[in-house]
Amino acid sequence: MCNQNGGNNCFEYVDSQMPRVPLQLVVNGEKVIEFVDPAMTLLNFLRIQLKLFGAKEGCGEGECGACTIIMDGHTVNSCLVLAVEAQDSEITTVEGLSKNGELSILQQEFINNDALQCGFCTPGMLMSARNLLDRHPEPTVEQIKEGIAGNFCRCTGYQSIIDAVISAAKREREELI
Ligand code: FES
Ligand code: FES
Repeated sequence: MCNQNGGNNCFEYVDSQMPRVPLQLVVNGEKVIEFVDPAMTLLNFLRIQLKLFGAKEGCGEGECGACTIIMDGHTVNSCLVLAVEAQDSEITTVEGLSKNGELSILQQEFINNDALQCGFCTPGMLMSARNLLDRHPEPTVEQIKEGIAGNFCRCTGYQSIIDAVISAAKREREELI
């Protein structure tokens, strides 16, 4: 249970009671300036302090990928990073994928391909897939498997996720023509 302001939307965050430190970064294109608990993880900072509940806490120890975000162009397990380590960084969470209220092509293709069931893994899976497509606009199946290797899904069996990434890659390439 949370003991602070996160209500039911956080996962055992315990305030260290240490003096707050300033933190400045860019999240989903917006400049953010906050004072944070120096012992707070980046995941808890996003969820509790910024109220961005997309990234999930599954394991809290870098095993499941549910908390994956993109930080300075790299996927990161935000449960393993302290918020203060994100100083001056540029972060994208799943909330940053849609634009003007419209789901991104990648999100649309997850829906079109039934690439989610319970949805718990989906925000992290989408961020790994986004990072993969940014690096490999025409990925092979092997590259997709490697790109999402750090993200566990207990529901889909992965094939529909691979299909979704292939479809999204194709549509994104077509949009560039
Ligand atoms: S919650 Fe971060 S890897 Fe599982
Ligand atoms: S959709 Fe349930 S864990 Fe992936």
